Amino acid sequence: MKRCLTLFISIYLPFNIIHAQPAAPALPGHTMPIGAYYYPEHWKKEQWERDIRKMAELGFAFTHYAEFAWANMEPEEGKYQFGWLDTCVDLAAKYGLKVIMCTPTATPPVWLTLKHPEILVVGAEGDPVRHGMRLNVNGSNPVFQKYVQRILSKMIERYGKHPAIWGWQLDNEPHFEGLYDYSGFSQSSFRKWLQQKYVQIDSLNSAWGASFWSFSYNSFGQIRIPNAKETHSVNPHALLDFQRYNADALAAGLRFQSSFLRGKMSSTQWITTNFAYYKFLPSVDLFRSRKDLDFAAHTMYLLSTFLDYPKGALAPRLGSGMELAFSSELARSIKGYTGIMELQPGQINWGQWNSQPLPGAVKMWIWHSFGLGDRFVCTYRFRQPLFGGEQFHKGIMEPDGITVSPGGSEYVTAIREIAGLPKTSDAEKAVPEAVASRATGFLWKQENLLGMEASKHTNAWDSWKHYYLYYENLKTLGASVHFLQETDSFDVKKYPFMVAPAFEMTDSNLIRKWTAYVKAGGHLILTSRTGMKNNDGHLWEALLQQPIYELIGATINSYDHLAPGVNGTLKMDGKDYLWNIWGDQLTPKSGTEVLATYGDQFYKGTTAAVKNKIGRGTVHYIGVQSLDGEMEKQILRKAYLSAGASILNLPNYVFVEWRDGYWVAVNYTSAPADLPIPTTATIITGGARIAPGEVTVWRNVQK
Ligand code: GAL
Repeated sequence: MKRCLTLFISIYLPFNIIHAQPAAPALPGHTMPIGAYYYPEHWKKEQWERDIRKMAELGFAFTHYAEFAWANMEPEEGKYQFGWLDTCVDLAAKYGLKVIMCTPTATPPVWLTLKHPEILVVGAEGDPVRHGMRLNVNGSNPVFQKYVQRILSKMIERYGKHPAIWGWQLDNEPHFEGLYDYSGFSQSSFRKWLQQKYVQIDSLNSAWGASFWSFSYNSFGQIRIPNAKETHSVNPHALLDFQRYNADALAAGLRFQSSFLRGKMSSTQWITTNFAYYKFLPSVDLFRSRKDLDFAAHTMYLLSTFLDYPKGALAPRLGSGMELAFSSELARSIKGYTGIMELQPGQINWGQWNSQPLPGAVKMWIWHSFGLGDRFVCTYRFRQPLFGGEQFHKGIMEPDGITVSPGGSEYVTAIREIAGLPKTSDAEKAVPEAVASRATGFLWKQENLLGMEASKHTNAWDSWKHYYLYYENLKTLGASVHFLQETDSFDVKKYPFMVAPAFEMTDSNLIRKWTAYVKAGGHLILTSRTGMKNNDGHLWEALLQQPIYELIGATINSYDHLAPGVNGTLKMDGKDYLWNIWGDQLTPKSGTEVLATYGDQFYKGTTAAVKNKIGRGTVHYIGVQSLDGEMEKQILRKAYLSAGASILNLPNYVFVEWRDGYWVAVNYTSAPADLPIPTTATIITGGARIAPGEVTVWRNVQK
């Protein structure tokens, strides 16, 4: 029994510490304060007051300290110096700024990593990520946690009840440098994790399909982390578990910090972290921290050259508005609201090239965040650094520290404009029927993304592109999107529509939930690859995707990929479309509506997309990815309209959002666009024709 208990404590507790329900955070509802990162440790102390006063004079409402300052707080083990941070917290208070205080765990000091090299993250090649890089320690390691607890207890003692501290940010863009941790610690924790999950080694062997190539294990102790650098290719099921373990370990590191701070801090303070956009760090699963954070904040650098832009000459200066929206709506879905913790004020230093934003673009991003409902915007960063690895990163201030940069001026204008918004009445704040009628749930499972990216099946498959195709099209309808987990309630009233693009791993439970949702009047949109595998990533011992046949009202006979540059044709409603990457061939059951068919190949005339009615709702199955997404857009439009939703018809990358009685439109395209502003509306700023990089805000007071 004692052995069992010890096993329980060492295996179970690190990832499942029971914690109190998060306190209600003191975030404003209908305004959007704007703040700026400040690094006192980078500047002469004679400049602190000048800088913080300036920040307040420019209209900023809060600042952000200390996420990389462990070495400044504890330069030697057990020797603390907080005078500098105390001074800057007091200066913020003096000038009326709130402070987001950060735990400095992303950058452990050199004395710590030299003393305990076993806490370092190790890359797939076997090299530890040594001092000099960030995020180089596994936060679930108890050796590291001992030191984390010490520095956190000093910080909470000083700032946990300080009235200037608004809330706490844990770590910085939590992840393991290199994405996965291959250290000895990770190796042994992974084995424990597996033992907890499978209990018997035979269950693991069967989940990992270990009879294939004689992979079988006799005991958990024989297992090594799957690593393509050692074995050229890896067992996909073992890899999936290792990825799940890493996401759990990261969440456990955050949980350790939040459970330590909670209860010791004042009840008006809150806890968050600044998740980097999923596309940059797909190894991290925000949803695993749902119970540990008051809300999830997010970071977004719209001009990063790694993002998705529309066509057009101005696009690289306006940025990826679609991904700002995606990031915000995803982070908002964790707890119902979010704030953007890092938004660039101008050029960044780390793109493949770093264009200047178009004048007006910085202000547009802030307004776009406002429209999306973000509860605050914080800019990275107040001053441009003079040294270090981010020298060319613009700040609100130029390198001289006294001149406001062009992006800084746009922040000042946005702060003034948002503060000057006319008050809306309670009636205006009620969600308009049109907005509710098109609200959409987007079913999200990180493991599907990881699984499909590890096993694409055609090099041309890109899970992000597939998701974006649907997300972007939903935004052209003006839909507000809520990312749902399969364990969430599928509430037809809240989400009359649900899209689940390429939802590869399913189980009977999910299919039952989908069926109940549709019977209750929901409109479900599924796409190719959905229902292909079980949650171990095995194909079903059945016909291709057979578990969803009843739901979609069709059988899926086969799928095809075309060679690069070869396009197949599709026919829908008398129009032709092209495809290349993935196409399913379907046989509809009687009563199922055929939406699109193939126009060529040996299966010419076969069905590519169907609509099935069940109970009060419908299921659309779109088994092909068209070349430009236009066919999917038309299917979505028809689906929403025939279900009685009120939709917009916006060009891609023109966004219209509703927030608390204000309608906010932004234009990331290179051409002007006409906005759907009702004649009864009052325009607050901008015009009915919106130029690239501009903002229009209106309200529609019903007489
Ligand atoms: C973010 C990071 C910041 C800073 C910034 C520069 O991803 O969280 O600490 O490095 O990039 O753009």
